[in-house]
Amino acid sequence: MLSFPKNFTWGSATSAYQIEGAWNIDGKGPSIWDSFCMIPAKISNNDNGNKACDHYHKFEDDIKMMKSLGLKAYRFSIAWPRILPTGKGKINKEGIRFYSQVIDCLLENGIEPWVTLYHWDLPLALQFEDDGWLGDSISDHFANYAKICFENFGDRVKNWITINEAWVAAMLGYGQGVFAPGRVSNVEPYLAGHNLLLAHGKAAKIYRSTFKSKQGGRIGITNNCDWREPLTKSPEDQEAAERALEFFLGWFADPIYKGDYPESMKSRLGERLPAFTEEEKKMLLGSSDFFGLNHYTTMMAAQSKPDDPIGSVYGNGGLSDDQDVTLSLNKEWKLTSMKWAVVPWGCKKLLNWIAKRYNNPEIVITENGCAYDDKIIEGKIEDHHRLEFYKTYLEACHEALCDGVNLTGYFAWSLMDNFEWASGYEKRFGLVHIDFKNLQRTPKSSAIWYSSVIENNGINI
Ligand code: GAL
Repeated sequence: MLSFPKNFTWGSATSAYQIEGAWNIDGKGPSIWDSFCMIPAKISNNDNGNKACDHYHKFEDDIKMMKSLGLKAYRFSIAWPRILPTGKGKINKEGIRFYSQVIDCLLENGIEPWVTLYHWDLPLALQFEDDGWLGDSISDHFANYAKICFENFGDRVKNWITINEAWVAAMLGYGQGVFAPGRVSNVEPYLAGHNLLLAHGKAAKIYRSTFKSKQGGRIGITNNCDWREPLTKSPEDQEAAERALEFFLGWFADPIYKGDYPESMKSRLGERLPAFTEEEKKMLLGSSDFFGLNHYTTMMAAQSKPDDPIGSVYGNGGLSDDQDVTLSLNKEWKLTSMKWAVVPWGCKKLLNWIAKRYNNPEIVITENGCAYDDKIIEGKIEDHHRLEFYKTYLEACHEALCDGVNLTGYFAWSLMDNFEWASGYEKRFGLVHIDFKNLQRTPKSSAIWYSSVIENNGINI
């Protein structure tokens, strides 16, 4: 039996656009994801989140299900355009009512709410009127929205996450254009990322100055990072792997834990990387009470060579020319249906890398999981691959704990199958299967296994 620390937080996670549905009712305004999905061929099968898991109407049943699975904590996000239909100005009372009910119902069932304020569904009006994450005013609008959430929910919510995966919002939304708002550029991601960081900093400042002492909660940011393993022992490849991590995680974590962007980014990007004022640096430094980490996979990293075939820079490396890193997969690694490699030791190495680079902060894994195309057979879903994934990644987490990493929580992505962004409903990440036709929920064998891990606060091996 591998035991975890006594107060370890065990949970599962979702996000608003991926599960709620109810996209245009009870006063909700449109988001950039509502409109992005309307553009033909942006999303696999032209799917959209209009109905998704219909969690908006089924949240009570879903929370009952969470209770029966033994979840101690549940991470979900608030849809900004449900609270502020145009992103600013008038508050939509129905939106406040909905999330208040969700929070109350969670607490009644003994489940701790972990609330993300931004999981990519920006109010569409802010995209039109304020240039989305490129606009000068966007971080102030976010801070104002965050304040409304603290005022209305902070009496009951004690764990706040400002931004989910700024890297994805910036790089996939403004660099590669595969996520909303679909822009392609090698300048805009760095400006969008800058404003996302400022938005986090401003919201955290408001929480700490006005709410924290009376509400007694904490606030942090969640960043995502895959592990980058040097392809060879050569110093060039070792440096390339380190640089890849700096461009991925250091981009957003260095300003918060060290006060500025990594040197490698500053020197390579020059004027394309905006600079923080001294005041902004001060605001960002130490602005996260915990290190939220979403981690899924690993790739090999090597120094790019002039004769690398075009397109060999593959995967989530960021804008390749900026890094000079070529990514690849080891052919022996097993892949999930997202084609993401299953490499538990990469998780352990990343946790150690964070501990070392950022002075052993408290880390919470706010997402980890895998997509597999599991099928119902005689009313049951025996998702062995997923079970194996969770088991081996949790073992890796346990090893990191034994190394002295201060890991205090783990959230499985995801509670249930849902709308997987550009992949639509094809990729299934859930512990619970959803039949999207009649919206029926069926826990998979991994869910039953995860319940026993939670109950025993450890893994039976
Ligand atoms: C994360 C994201 C989630 C989910 C997951 C699996 O990047 O925060 O919303 O989609 O990846 O792809």
